[in-house]
Amino acid sequence: EFIKEVTGIKVLEQQLKDKLNLDYVVVVPGDSDELNWVKQEMGKACVQYLKDHMSPEQAIAITGGTTMASVAQMMTSFKGADQCLYVPARGGLGERVENQANTICAEMAKKAKGDYRLLYVPDPLSEESYKTIKEEPSIKEVLDIIRHADIVIHGVGDALTMAQRRKTSPEQLELIQQYEAVGEAFGYYFNRMGEIVHKVRTVGLQLEDLNRSRHVIAVAGGRSKAQAIASYFQPGQSNVLITDEGAAQELIRDF
Ligand code: BG6
Repeated sequence: EFIKEVTGIKVLEQQLKDKLNLDYVVVVPGDSDELNWVKQEMGKACVQYLKDHMSPEQAIAITGGTTMASVAQMMTSFKGADQCLYVPARGGLGERVENQANTICAEMAKKAKGDYRLLYVPDPLSEESYKTIKEEPSIKEVLDIIRHADIVIHGVGDALTMAQRRKTSPEQLELIQQYEAVGEAFGYYFNRMGEIVHKVRTVGLQLEDLNRSRHVIAVAGGRSKAQAIASYFQPGQSNVLITDEGAAQELIRDF
């Protein structure tokens, strides 16, 4: 029974790797929509990936969300991790404090016994503040580290769920629905074709910065996120996916 299960997972991993054109895929058993510990298993798998690929003196950028919180929760101080610098990938996106990239980044650094820098920016940002804040020397310094991060770890969310969870204005919410956004990552909203239909105005990592990083790790699971994951990977900005069986089965079947 156990062997059968392991083989099943390995097959799923290979199928996803081919389908989404990825370098590395991990599928953990279960569905995080139904069982919360499955999210922790994804967190553990992500930490294992870091153990195998991280080197001292690298910069690690991490986004917010409950899945990233599980990664931070599972982080350990393995060799080299304490010599890395941890930064939040983007400024405030309207999340609750415990889901914010700043909070998660500080937690991750603490577990790793490493150093961290945070981004103190209000959100949402008006066009004028956005322009001034970007030029602020202390912010600029952190932004530079973020944009050259060696490793980026991020969540992927269902577009409407994310828009509702954030302080999205009614006008923007309408746009997101009108343009049929299905997925979200880093504050970017994607439609089924993987086209960007909306973007939250904040400083930090831009989608085009991703090709500078060697490891871009998406951690997202749950059957309900299958379509979101599929939309995000259409243009394929990340090369690693850590997911669960719930999302993986749906992805193979429907998308
Ligand atoms: C947010 C990230 O904080 O978390 C998003 O900024 C991501 O890009 C989302 O989509 C995922 O949240 P969760 O709770 O489903 O892991």
